Amino acid sequence: MSVRQDWSSRTGGPLRGSVRVPGDKSISHRALMLAAIAEGRSHIRGFLEGEDTRATAAILAQLGVRIEAPSAGERIVHGVGLHGLRGSAQALDCGNAGTGMRLLSGLLAGQAFDSVLVGDASLSKRPMRRVTDPLAQMGAHIDTHDGLPPLQLHGGSALRGIRYELPIASAQVKSAVLLAGLYASGSTEVVEPHPTRDYTERMLAAFGWPIVFEPGRARLDGGHCLRAADIDVPADFSSAAFFLVAASIVPGSELHLPATGLNPRRTGLLHALRLMGADIVVERQREASGEPVGDLVVRHAPLHGIELPMDLVPDMIDELPVLFVAAAAAAGPTVIRGAAELRVKESDRIATMAAGLRALGVAIEETPDGAVIDGGVIGAGTVESLTDHRIAMSFAVAGLLAAGPVRINDCRHVATSFPGFRDLANGCGFALQDAD
Ligand code: S3P
Repeated sequence: MSVRQDWSSRTGGPLRGSVRVPGDKSISHRALMLAAIAEGRSHIRGFLEGEDTRATAAILAQLGVRIEAPSAGERIVHGVGLHGLRGSAQALDCGNAGTGMRLLSGLLAGQAFDSVLVGDASLSKRPMRRVTDPLAQMGAHIDTHDGLPPLQLHGGSALRGIRYELPIASAQVKSAVLLAGLYASGSTEVVEPHPTRDYTERMLAAFGWPIVFEPGRARLDGGHCLRAADIDVPADFSSAAFFLVAASIVPGSELHLPATGLNPRRTGLLHALRLMGADIVVERQREASGEPVGDLVVRHAPLHGIELPMDLVPDMIDELPVLFVAAAAAAGPTVIRGAAELRVKESDRIATMAAGLRALGVAIEETPDGAVIDGGVIGAGTVESLTDHRIAMSFAVAGLLAAGPVRINDCRHVATSFPGFRDLANGCGFALQDAD
């Protein structure tokens, strides 16, 4: 991993222009994985050239899949079929990617060979029993390090389908169980406490695997095969989120965000910002590879605090850090509840955002599952990203409105999900540079 980078974000704007953010991370991971075990040659366009998704590509190559990269954002995957992966004597390094590790654990649990999945320091602290428990119920043999990575998957287990009621809303866990279900005898069904992003389900259908799904529930049988498909990956709503908040809070701003993924399980932030008074319009709503996509236009509008409806939380789980910034810029208090999952992301995102905002003079009270933020004024100061990409970018947004420079320590992981963030942001009016 590259050396530590500290950034300084200064008052900037107004933000103007059209910002094409990179491809969706969740869809890019899944497109690679399904294309790898499909029959034939799949073409992926709009692929996220992030460190997380490249780690998944490197792992699949290590398992014997030929993947060509004719140009940036493009991959041609020569699928090896459901049973064509070959084991690797070396550990499979997922880097910083929780999605990569959890989905691959499902994909690899039913293989004939052993695998070891490892990750970086942050991923090595993230809970894995949430996937290894249901996979063990299916007959998989996986050793963890007290519930944490590395994961040692023992090959040769005959998997059987289960009906699994997820104790927490997690698309990663749901996807791991469904991917293992491809290799299981009988039927695999997952039921969620709240519907989560359904990319695995949609993409399995696009690759020709029979699957029945509706919000909160999915079922498939083992024993079919996947046929190669061409996938157009939309721009990542989670990356667009930083610009939606930035343009909302900086006076005089107007930004266009073309071809952004608008899967309803991802767009909770859009609803939350509108409840706060934001001016965001969706133009030219359409479909790309079975996913809703639209062009977003966001203009500055004065924001006010809200009580965030709890049922929006799963639909904006990755956007909550930047919502904390919107709340800090808004007039009056914002109350966030039901977001305890934030504590087991790339960092404890409630604690990291609370510490950072407090360092910028914002009145914020941390609660076990959220925060109460009394917005209005953001001051200058130094914040720690704790190598969490979304924390670093959220504080880059905060700097736009702060009374003085905001120093953000250790931003090196931004490229895991958003390569080129700094240039794109500076190109539309941010003032982000290396800190002294
Ligand atoms: C993801 C699911 C979410 C999200 C993550 C990507 C996915 O995680 O936070 O960034 O691609 O399935 P959880 O399943 O842990 O909620």
